[in-house]
Amino acid sequence: TIINVLGRRVWDSRGRPTVEVDVRLKCGAFGRAIAPAGASMGSGEAVDLRDGGEAFGGLNVGRAVAAVNEEIGPALVGMDADLQEEVDRAMITLDGTGNRGRLGGNAIVATSMAVLQARAAAEKVPLWQYLAAGRDVRLPLPEIQIFGGGAHAARRVDIQDFMIMCPAAGSFAEALDWTAEVYRTAGLLMKKRGSLQGVADEGGYWPAFRSNEEVLEALVKSIEMAGFKPGDEVGISLDVAASEFGKAGVYTLALGNTSYDTDEWISILGQWLDDYPILSVEDPLGEDDRQGFQTFTRLYGGRCQIIGDDYLVTNAARVSEAAKDKAVTAVLIKPNQAGTITEAFQALAAAREQGLGTIVSARSGESEDVIISHLSTGWDAGQLKVGSFSRSERMAKWNECLRIEEALGSRARFAGRDGLAFAPW
Ligand code: PGA
Ligand code: ZN
Repeated sequence: TIINVLGRRVWDSRGRPTVEVDVRLKCGAFGRAIAPAGASMGSGEAVDLRDGGEAFGGLNVGRAVAAVNEEIGPALVGMDADLQEEVDRAMITLDGTGNRGRLGGNAIVATSMAVLQARAAAEKVPLWQYLAAGRDVRLPLPEIQIFGGGAHAARRVDIQDFMIMCPAAGSFAEALDWTAEVYRTAGLLMKKRGSLQGVADEGGYWPAFRSNEEVLEALVKSIEMAGFKPGDEVGISLDVAASEFGKAGVYTLALGNTSYDTDEWISILGQWLDDYPILSVEDPLGEDDRQGFQTFTRLYGGRCQIIGDDYLVTNAARVSEAAKDKAVTAVLIKPNQAGTITEAFQALAAAREQGLGTIVSARSGESEDVIISHLSTGWDAGQLKVGSFSRSERMAKWNECLRIEEALGSRARFAGRDGLAFAPW
């Protein structure tokens, strides 16, 4: 039984205010969670409640913290924490809007995650183990950023995430070993070119490049120089985050200052798939470009994983529709995009039911909270996206997975190549 819910303001990895929630149960168990925050957001996401005004660029969370302490807490006290769905539904009803705008997506998701943590604590097991509930689960294939871009790097290049995946690694720990070498090598390469300028929001190198293709070249070179075979051993994964520069079928790149229609943009991406060892592409088209998604997936879904993020906003109904449309082969799962743990899990379940892959994902604004490491493993999602291989809000998540892999001991299995999802039809 929930006996206490306490909200407070803490700070995220961009130095912005965010909401932390503590939940206490009658048995003495305790759970805590911190709301993350996106920068490139889908328009269908649950929205955070921010105070506006002068302080902290209008991003203060005084009202969201008050919502936890004055409305959400009193409504949840006395409820059975084992019934996550009921707890989450109570918050959704209390909010009363379609988008969590009254109480705040930040207030609600932090509470939802803290309740889940308290339940696991009550069972005296780590969260991943509580979620696995005795089933065999796999450590996820990590998707790790080497160069940042897009909204996370002042649009210095158009593409948001230039990442690698190590599907041929034998374990999660080995995938990190390989990534560490590629990340280090990419840093040396940038230094040699005289273009090492620190890191972007998620810890990838600041993209001091003249074109998107130049970043891809540098990434391939880094993989090779680190001693790996670009392709099935260490492959490239992109988050295009195309909603940031594509609306109503017009894609306008900052680099080169050129515009393309959907078909032209798809053929540019197709050229990249031909020229570079790309295993996965997220949000290749704008969130409003359903036909573009269908065309792209029809053309390339058999050889490249195609992920919906802003397009599907961790929404089970949208996931099912996209599966019917054959518009993606995999779904990004962000708890704060859905709004609650229950809704995030429903989106994951919908994807799985339709044969689509799932990637549990962090946001560009993060914290020391490592819940997504547990969700990705405990839910057996197959993949995990956290950002780069620097900055402790990112490393905390990778390191937590190492501990989980160690705890599993001889039972530990790594999703590896099987974590990826190509067109199932
Ligand atoms: P965001 O970026 O957290 O800024 O939305 C992450 C992503 O687009 O996957
Ligand atoms: Zn994305």
